[in-house]
Amino acid sequence: MKGVHFPVTAIALLAFATLLASASDPSPLQDFCVAINNTDPAVFVNGKFCKNPKLASANDFFSDKLRNPGNTSNPIGSIVTAANVDDIPGLNTLGISFARVDFAPNGLNPPHTHPRATEILIVLEGSLYVGFVTSNGDGNRLFTKVLYKGDVFVFPVGLIHFQLNVGKTNALAIAGLSSQNPGVITIANAVFGSNPPINPDVLAKAFQVDEKEVDYLQKQFWYNNH
Ligand SMILES: *[C@@H]1O[C@H](CO)[C@@H](O)[C@H](O)[C@H]1NC(C)=O
Ligand SMILES: *[C@@H]1O[C@H](CO)[C@@H](O)[C@H](O)[C@H]1NC(C)=O
Repeated sequence: MKGVHFPVTAIALLAFATLLASASDPSPLQDFCVAINNTDPAVFVNGKFCKNPKLASANDFFSDKLRNPGNTSNPIGSIVTAANVDDIPGLNTLGISFARVDFAPNGLNPPHTHPRATEILIVLEGSLYVGFVTSNGDGNRLFTKVLYKGDVFVFPVGLIHFQLNVGKTNALAIAGLSSQNPGVITIANAVFGSNPPINPDVLAKAFQVDEKEVDYLQKQFWYNNH
């Protein structure tokens, strides 16, 4: 009997593992599901509600939001302009979105993660020093590269990554993301700029510094460039 049960269990576990390993948004069950905002507080869906497909039009699949450079006059010298499902309702259920990242000279897109998306980035202008760090189980290895115009780099889903403009001019990159709503967690903002602040005992021990240093960091203004 063991011989009968074991493969069934193994297949069930494999199917479960495959589900867990799925790293993109769920597949659509129709051609498209153009998003509408539903204000009914009692109902939630994983994504957004669909417009009647017969009422969809080209503009539901369009955005001109990435035409113009973002304003990089801010403390970190970079700005991310996203075109996700909130901007293009036709992206709902399709598991993909775009962002443009503008950099002033020395501008930094600081260490952050996208909880729901892998990112593939192409440099259109300038040169960027980019990198990501692997998970604890993989030894927190740092992978970096200097990218020039036309070069492409991948930041795997969930991993902490950054981009620094190392050229003398402005830089521009476009990122494709494997989610209609990738999300972003900027590490410094989340850790030192949370609302309300994390208890300094926690951060002093976690970062192995004095509470004074934690206090200093918690008093800084953590600009959100996304
Ligand atoms: C860019 O942002 C800065 C700081 O907020 C502001 O002073 C400036 O007018 C903005 N520039 C443009 C072109 O909007
Ligand atoms: C839906 O609501 C969000 C948040 O209020 C807003 O940014 C977005 O423009 C709305 N989208 C549509 C298609 O109305």
